[in-house]
Amino acid sequence: MTAEDKTTSASHLAFNRLIREESPTADCNRFAVERCEIGNLRARAPTPYAPAVPSDPARRVLLGFIGQACFTAATSGVAPKTSLAAGLKEEWVAQPGTDRISGCQNFYGRHQSSIVTAQPLAAIVASFDVLAGSRDELTALMKWLTVATAALMAVMMDSLSMTVAFGASMFDTRFGLATQCPKHLVTMNAFPNDALDNDRCHGDLLIQFNVDTAETNNQALQAVLKDFPDGLSLRWRQDRFLLPQTAGAQRRDASRNLLGFKDGTSNLDANSPYLLNRMVWVGNTSGEPGWTHGGTYQAVRIIRTLVERWNVIPLHEQENIIGRDKAEGAPLGMAHERDVPDYLGDPDGRGVPLLAHIRRVNPSDPGSTDSLILRRGYTYSNGLTKAGELDVGLLFTAFQSDLERGFIAVQTRLNGEPLERHIKPDGGGYFFALPGVESTRDHFARVLLETDA
Ligand code: HEM
Repeated sequence: MTAEDKTTSASHLAFNRLIREESPTADCNRFAVERCEIGNLRARAPTPYAPAVPSDPARRVLLGFIGQACFTAATSGVAPKTSLAAGLKEEWVAQPGTDRISGCQNFYGRHQSSIVTAQPLAAIVASFDVLAGSRDELTALMKWLTVATAALMAVMMDSLSMTVAFGASMFDTRFGLATQCPKHLVTMNAFPNDALDNDRCHGDLLIQFNVDTAETNNQALQAVLKDFPDGLSLRWRQDRFLLPQTAGAQRRDASRNLLGFKDGTSNLDANSPYLLNRMVWVGNTSGEPGWTHGGTYQAVRIIRTLVERWNVIPLHEQENIIGRDKAEGAPLGMAHERDVPDYLGDPDGRGVPLLAHIRRVNPSDPGSTDSLILRRGYTYSNGLTKAGELDVGLLFTAFQSDLERGFIAVQTRLNGEPLERHIKPDGGGYFFALPGVESTRDHFARVLLETDA
């Protein structure tokens, strides 16, 4: 039995124990479901916000707990890691090892917690078409989805978290929400190097499942599909993962992407409330509809990397295209991964070339300060294309408070970069990650759905 098998079967054992008995410590702010099995979730939601008394103690499962109570702690004896207090600082870039650890995931809060936690080793991004026929049906769907998400995050092992987002099509004529569309939310248009495949783009509702084990992500996705057959139709999905050395290094080093370079070195510091409020969360002064406050724009891009072509070009050419050395990950001309290049002092690009990816993407001039984004990049592998080439790449996600100033501005700066010869974006879309669910009386998009048409 491999280490992975052992973890998986341990997960199953603990999960099965949970569906038979209540955790002794998870007794705060709870409500129960009648039955909750992997792939067969039956949340008891009809009077969704009143604590329900389970009729059959042998089958009840705990949902929705707040505060210190942590399911992981309850079942594993391991105290939840909250790096919040330790990590408060206002630097622009995340420091190694300070990213929030994906330990206990609180479901309730002003923001969806999954957006700023450290990247797990695996994830699924699933985009759905919403089949609800009216505002009332949509409201019912969002209530159920809230209960299901709280349930899955509470009962699934390995600290599953989920992120729920709306696409621009939710604000068409179906639900009378057009006047409430977030200001910058549009259907993603193709950039010059894109070859978008409509079957892998857009969607009404996006759910991201984040947890270290691919199996748990799949089980959570199946649970959602099983419970919403009349409400949601899967449009596309993309499974993704981080290469294992990230785990080996206790997530202190950036993971390598399939081009062989460390990816994620220079990123917004997700431990800084100042930066998150400024660059990620939509706030009260944004001029955005009130219901959006606490949410964030989510740009998703499925970017195929043409590895066969990349792997035959010389190392120095690869490094000039990215702007970092491949082994250490340092900016060219510097020694260490975390060194910060001085572009002002190098106007001719003698160190980092002017066209290099990292310089184009973040020239570090006053104009680019406003376009900092919180990146979450993962590798994906879909086997082979019909032409017999590897169908692999980067599933890129960026969170920002202003889509135009963030992802669209950054991607526009990248148009024509030398890296384009080795990548082909073919899917994804723009979404708005909903504000968090603040209590058991709240549900996803409640304020939006209660607003008059
Ligand atoms: C397959 C496509 C891509 C590859 C292989 C790639 C690779 C890399 C690598 C190796 C780095 C340097 C390490 C780091 O700081 O994380 C980097 C940095 C970065 N990339 Fe990309 N990237 C890709 C697409 C994108 C896209 C689509 C965007 C946004 C539109 C983007 C935005 C950034 C940013 C903001 C940085 C940090 C630059 C800095 O502040 O120094 N990348 N990328």
